Amino acid sequence: MVDRSKLRIAINTGGGDAPGLNAVVRATTLSALNLGWEVYGIERGYGGFLGEGEIVSLTRESVAGITHLGGTILGTTNRQNPFAWPRPRADGSIEHVDRSGEVFQSFRDHRFDALIAIGGDGSLRIAHELAERGLPVVGVPKTIDNDISHTNLTFGFLTAMETATEAIDKLHSTAESHERVLVVEVMGRHAGWIALFAGVAGSADVILIPEIPYRIERVCDKIREREAAGRRFSIVVAAEGARPVGGEPVVKEAAGPGRSVRYGGIAERLAQEIAERTGKETRSLALGHLQRGGSPNAYDRLIALRFGAAAVQFVRDGRFGCMVALEPPHVKAVPLREVVQSRKLVPVDGDVVVTARALGISFGD
Ligand code: F6P
Repeated sequence: MVDRSKLRIAINTGGGDAPGLNAVVRATTLSALNLGWEVYGIERGYGGFLGEGEIVSLTRESVAGITHLGGTILGTTNRQNPFAWPRPRADGSIEHVDRSGEVFQSFRDHRFDALIAIGGDGSLRIAHELAERGLPVVGVPKTIDNDISHTNLTFGFLTAMETATEAIDKLHSTAESHERVLVVEVMGRHAGWIALFAGVAGSADVILIPEIPYRIERVCDKIREREAAGRRFSIVVAAEGARPVGGEPVVKEAAGPGRSVRYGGIAERLAQEIAERTGKETRSLALGHLQRGGSPNAYDRLIALRFGAAAVQFVRDGRFGCMVALEPPHVKAVPLREVVQSRKLVPVDGDVVVTARALGISFGD
C-alpha cells in the first residue's frame, strides 16, 4: 500500500509547446508541495529519463513567476518517443530503438511514485503505452490545435486563436489598400479549430479546414463575387492540413519513426492557384510558430492551473492511466485508453460553421 502522504512525483512536457505549459508546471508543483510531496521535472520530454536532459528538483522558487510565461521551463521535443528513440549508427544514418525499459528503470531508480505527463496527441499516446505497461501516469492535454478528444478545450488554443485573429485583422487594411487577395496559413494538421475560430472572429471571406475539403473554383467564385460587389480584396484563412476534394494536404516532411508528418505550404499553393484563375494580385503568409509563442491569455492560464491542480488530486486518489479533461464547469478524469482512440475534429454542421455560412463566409465547398 502506497503512503500517499509523502509521494515523489515527476512532471514532463512533451510535443510542440503551447502557451500555458508553465502554468501547469507551477500548479502541479505547488499543489504537490502543499501536500508535503517532492516534485521533480524531467527535462526535454522523456530525455531526462534517458540521460539526454536532467532530472531537476522543482521548488517554490523554481516555479515562481512563471504562470504568464510562454514555452516550458522543462524543455520539450516532438521528435523523440521512448518506444522509437533515434540513435545514430556508425555510418551516420539514424535507427530507432525501444528505450522504454530504461524509462521504467530510471523511474524506479529515482523512487518516483507517479508521472504527470503534459502533452498533445503523440505524448498522450506515449503516456498511454507507458500506463498500459504499468507506469503510474496521469496525462494533461496540451495543444494549440485543440484536437484532443474528451476535453472541451486544451490550453494554448485560445491564445493561438487570438494571435491568428490579430494577424487577420492586420491583413485587412493592407489587402484592402492594394486590392489584393491575402492567403493566411494557420496551424491545424487534422483539425481546423484555429482556422475556423480565428477566421470567423477576424472576418475572413474564405475558411479552409481539413474537415471540409475544398474546390479551388468555389474559392475563386467567392473572390469574384466580392469583386463584382465592389469588394476588391479578400482574406482566405487556411489550416495547414486543409485539402482539396479528392486531394491531399501539402506536406513539408513525411512522417517517420517517432515523428509525425509536417504540413505546410498550402497558403503559397493556394495563392498561386487563385492568382492564375482570377487574375487578382495575391500574397500569402504562414503564421507558423508565432501561434505557439507568447504569454498565455487569462483563460488559458486558468485552464492550465486547473489542469495542474487536478492532476495532483488524481495522483493523490491513485487514479492512474487517465487524462485530466475539461467538461465545463468541471475538470474530470478520462481513461487515456479512450482519449487515444479518436481526435476531436470540427463538427461540420456545428454552430460555428453554421454561423460562418450565415455570415456569407465560404468553405470552398
Ligand atoms: O502543436 C501542434 C502543431 O502546432 C501543429 O499544428 C503543427 O503542424 C506542428 O505542431 C508543428 O510542429 P513543429 O514544427 O514544432 O514540428
